[in-house]
Amino acid sequence: MRLCCIAGDGIGIEVMEAAKQILAVLPLPIETVDAEAGWGVFERTGTALPDATVELAKASDAILFGAVASPSHPVPGYRSPIVGLRRTLDLYANIRPVRSLPLPSPALPTVDLVVVRENTEGLYAGRERLEDHGATAIAERVITRRGSERIVRKAYQIAQQRLAMGHTTASVTIVHKANVLRVSDGLFREVALEVARQYPTIATRELLVDTAAMFLAQKPAQFDVIVTTNMFGDILSDIACIHGGGLGVASSANIGDQLALFEPVHGAAPDIAGKGIANPLAMIGCLVMLFQWYAANDHGTEHAAIRTQFQEWAMRLREAIEFVLCHGPWTPDMPGGQHTTQEVTSAIVTRLV
Ligand code: NAI
Ligand code: MG
Repeated sequence: MRLCCIAGDGIGIEVMEAAKQILAVLPLPIETVDAEAGWGVFERTGTALPDATVELAKASDAILFGAVASPSHPVPGYRSPIVGLRRTLDLYANIRPVRSLPLPSPALPTVDLVVVRENTEGLYAGRERLEDHGATAIAERVITRRGSERIVRKAYQIAQQRLAMGHTTASVTIVHKANVLRVSDGLFREVALEVARQYPTIATRELLVDTAAMFLAQKPAQFDVIVTTNMFGDILSDIACIHGGGLGVASSANIGDQLALFEPVHGAAPDIAGKGIANPLAMIGCLVMLFQWYAANDHGTEHAAIRTQFQEWAMRLREAIEFVLCHGPWTPDMPGGQHTTQEVTSAIVTRLV
C-alpha cells in the first residue's frame, strides 16, 4: 500500500510521528510518502495545499492526515487544505465512530455509534461573499439530490455492516433542520427518506439537529448510525466524541469511491503544540480504520493473504489502544493523565511487538 502522509501543523506533526513509529514495527506492506499542507507551507510558499501534494495523494492508495492550523479571519489566498482535499478528491463520506471507553464504570453509558457526515457540500461548500459594501456577509448552503443520496446510502450500508458484524440492532437517525431550512434540508430529508425505504430491515428515525445535540449529550446510548449534512455532522461528532474519551482519541475517515483519507477529529491544538503531550491515540486509531478499509476494499489488495494481514493488525492495534485506554499511560487530556506522546506511543508499540 502506498500511503501519502500529510502531517500539517502543530500537533499534527507530533501525532504523525507517533503513527509512523507504529507503522515501523508492523510487518505490513506499506510504503509512506510525505507531502505538505497547512499554514506553515502557506507562509513559506503562498499556498496551503500545493499541487504536488494533491498529485501525490491521487497517486497513493490512501492518505494519512495530521491536522492543519487555519486562521479564523480571512487571509487572501488561504483556504483550509483539509476542506480542499475532501472536495478535490471527492471524499464525500466523513465517518466518525465513537465507542465508550473500555473502562468498567456503571456510571457511564455504553456508547457505540457512528456519525456519517456529508463532506463536500452544505455550508462548507465555500460559497461565501460580502455584499452591501461589506455590511452583509452571505454563505450559501448547497444541498444536492446526488450528494444527499450517496451519503444516506453510505449510512445504511454501514448500518447493514454493523448488523453483519454482530450488532443486535441497527438504526439510522436522519438529522436535519427541515422545519426552518425548508428548501435545503427539505431536499435532504426527502431524499434521505426515499433511500430509507430501500432498507426495510434497518430502523429509521429523524431528529431535528438541536434535539439530536441534546440527546447526544444526555442519552447517547440510543444512537447507532447518525447521518447528516456537513456542518451539523462536524458539530455533532465533537459532542459525541466526549463519550469515547474526548478529542484526543477520536478518529475519522473521509471516504470516496476510490480513495480514502484518515485523520484525527482534532485540529492543530496550538495551546499544547510543541510540548510533547498531544494524545496520539486519535491518530493511531486512524491506522485501525485505514487497515480495516484497505482489507475491505479491492483497490490494490489483490492477494487475499494481504487483506487478512491488514484485518488482523487492525484488530491487534485496536486491542493495544483499548489496553492503553484502560491501564495507561495517559496524556494530560485524559483524567489523571501525566504522560507524554512518546510514552503513550511506546506503550502501544510494546503491546504490539
Ligand atoms: P483543536 O482540536 O485543535 O483543539 C481543541 C482543544 O482540544 C484544545 O484545548 C486542544 O489542546 C485539545 N486537543 C485537541 N487534540 C488533542 C490531542 N490529540 N491531545 C490532547 N489535547 C488535544 O481545535 P481548535 O483549538 O478549535 O483549533 C485549533 C486549530 O486547528 C485551528 O486553526 C483550526 O482551524 C484547526 N483545526 C483543524 C482541523 C483539521 O485539520 N482537520 C480540525 C479542527 C480544527
Ligand atoms: Mg470539527
